[in-house]
Amino acid sequence: MDIKEIRKDFPIFNEDIVYLDSGATSQRPKQVIEKINEFYERANANPHRGSYKLSIEATEAYEGSRRKVAEFINAKHHEEVIFTKNATEALNLVAYSYGMDNIKQDDEIVISIMEHHSNLVPWQKVAKKNQAKLKYMYINDNFELDKQEIQNKITKNTKIVGITHVSNVLGTINPVKDIIDIAHKNGAIVILDASQSIPHMKIDVQDLDADFVVFSGHKMLAPLGIGVLYGKKDILDKMSPFILGGDMIEYVYEQDTTFATLPNKFEAGTQNVGGAVGLAAAIDYMNSIGYNNIEEAEREVVGYAISKLKELDFVKLYCTNNLENHLSVLSFNIDGIHPHDVSTILDSVNVAIRSGNHCAQPLLRFLGIDATCRASFSFYNTKEDVDKLIIGIKKANELFNKYKR
Ligand code: ALA
Repeated sequence: MDIKEIRKDFPIFNEDIVYLDSGATSQRPKQVIEKINEFYERANANPHRGSYKLSIEATEAYEGSRRKVAEFINAKHHEEVIFTKNATEALNLVAYSYGMDNIKQDDEIVISIMEHHSNLVPWQKVAKKNQAKLKYMYINDNFELDKQEIQNKITKNTKIVGITHVSNVLGTINPVKDIIDIAHKNGAIVILDASQSIPHMKIDVQDLDADFVVFSGHKMLAPLGIGVLYGKKDILDKMSPFILGGDMIEYVYEQDTTFATLPNKFEAGTQNVGGAVGLAAAIDYMNSIGYNNIEEAEREVVGYAISKLKELDFVKLYCTNNLENHLSVLSFNIDGIHPHDVSTILDSVNVAIRSGNHCAQPLLRFLGIDATCRASFSFYNTKEDVDKLIIGIKKANELFNKYKR
């Protein structure tokens, strides 16, 4: 993989910027931007609606994108892929359409303490509404979930397990195959949040055997506003729709409606076709590089960043020691300096990181902190990016040193 050539594909890198916030939103290669433009310039119409050529082309572009996603994640049926706005909407769809209808009083929903709010707040709502219990699997001192903790929390009372594949704060890769296996043995279904994993590692939904898998396009080179819900067909078939309106119906009478089959049942209203086309182009781009190369490049740069951060005695890193179980995201704090101040200083030297609670307040509370600095990496980052990050961190420490208590 020639990193210099790859960076030329990303117009944003014509600017002087060290972009270390791909965990929030990745950058887009020109191949993706061009495909989106091409759709709007040459095939733009409302899919599924018209019988004229342009509408048929738009339908083909949209449904072709669905087939590409299905193949990418190895779904058995392409109608198991539902397009959403993002992972958050996909998680809400499952919480409302599956959770609300299937969770009964005293049932248990089990999630991990490292969930993003989007895989947490909807379950709070389901648990409260249906008088069920929401239980947490907590992490150990090495920022990982122990098998014992998983086995203690997932029991015969568990009906739903929600788990992030990779933590957006810690970068910990969770043992999701074990979790899915334990959940299934106890009769529970599993919702896997793959938002932070799919940009970096292969997701095979049949191999994982998760009942639902969600992810956002904007973290994997695709445009903002397109996401995916994968669900097993037999489960999706039995679920009621989430959002009601056009294109998700079969027959509408004055007082009653019958609904369309999959996937339309879950795609009410005009969809983000340009986004789906962009997601398909992002998949083509990722396939052209290959996950092996992506993983190898990222592990080298992230490993280098970890070793450099560990050399700084004023930096605390929130990261497992077992780097096999870690991906992309590095959270850290500088002694006595608020993460927002650190990120402002870094921005002054054109290094973009995220600071704050990263939509994971329960995790940060569990860790006894209210914010971290977070550098998140993609295959387009380099060791030079890391060197600039370290220079910025040293600068922040020097600047604020006089104010430290
Ligand atoms: N969920 C995104 C993140 O972790 C926005 O930054």
